[in-house]
Amino acid sequence: MAYNLLKGKRGIIFGALDEKSIAWKVALKAKEEGAEFVLTNAPLAMRMGAINKLAEECNAQIIPADATSVEDLENLFKQATEILGGKIDFVLHSIGMSPNIRKGKDYGDLNYEWFQKTLDISALSFHKVMHVAEKQDAMSEWGSIVALTYIAAQRVFPDYTDMSQAKAVLESIARNYGYRFAKLKNVRVNTISQSPTMTTAGTGVGGFDAFFDYADKMSPLGNATAEDCANYTIMMFSDLTRKVTMQNLMHDGGFSSMGISEDVVNMIYQNQKQEANS
Ligand SMILES: NC(=O)c1ccc[n+]([C@@H]2O[C@H](COP(=O)([O-])OP(=O)(O)OC[C@H]3O[C@@H](n4cnc5c(N)ncnc54)[C@H](O)[C@@H]3O)[C@@H](O)[C@H]2O)c1
Repeated sequence: MAYNLLKGKRGIIFGALDEKSIAWKVALKAKEEGAEFVLTNAPLAMRMGAINKLAEECNAQIIPADATSVEDLENLFKQATEILGGKIDFVLHSIGMSPNIRKGKDYGDLNYEWFQKTLDISALSFHKVMHVAEKQDAMSEWGSIVALTYIAAQRVFPDYTDMSQAKAVLESIARNYGYRFAKLKNVRVNTISQSPTMTTAGTGVGGFDAFFDYADKMSPLGNATAEDCANYTIMMFSDLTRKVTMQNLMHDGGFSSMGISEDVVNMIYQNQKQEANS
């Protein structure tokens, strides 16, 4: 059911790679809720071509931009405001990539050049996006900027390796730029900390299936899906959340408040029984 929550709003959505992407679901929901927006992704990702299908469905234009390039971002914001006919009301940063994870490097054996790439792509890009938006005075008063993050910023998930540090930096940037943008233009900046989700970035992390199941069993409401995340993100873009800023918002079915759950206890008992019988 649509509520016209984003009627008349203009946005930029980063990070729709394929139908599984969280940004893809956000784009569909934003359209349903009456927004106009441009889609953007790294030129390399664009070559996979799936984003064209989304653009058609949403009647949106695509502007390629590598989010680590200030020049690309300047071009993106300039073109986006021209195409959409005014300042930007919402931005979704849905970007994450670690060459170390992609190439299976263990935390004790990280390649430091790649580590810097992880930080640049997954965290500093968020600062660059807001820096360009500020310089071009491209954000509307009471606009909303959201980046997606993961609880590995606060807790240890060994296979998440250098992405844990990237997410901690990302969340810190949200707080610090959030202060600045609130003072400048009443723009709010938040991160949404999402459950493990079956996407290209998610399933690239070692042992993903196991920690997806573990999180699901630990969360009293179960893992939040990409669609659930899209709904929450739309609410954050809407005028219903104007005074929420500089927050890391947990969107995880209750996972972050749990110590242990009955489901996990039962799973361990079952394993112990199987081991005893074998
Ligand atoms: N999937 C999960 O389990 C999960 C959980 C919590 C948070 N998140 C976060 O959600 C966000 C979206 O990821 P997703 O799960 O939808 O996976 P995804 O792989 O569909 O999206 C990641 C996107 O980042 C883009 N990207 C990579 N390098 C880029 C660059 N240099 N410039 C511009 N874009 C670039 C990719 O092209 C891709 O579209 C990420 O920040 C991710 O860390 C994911």
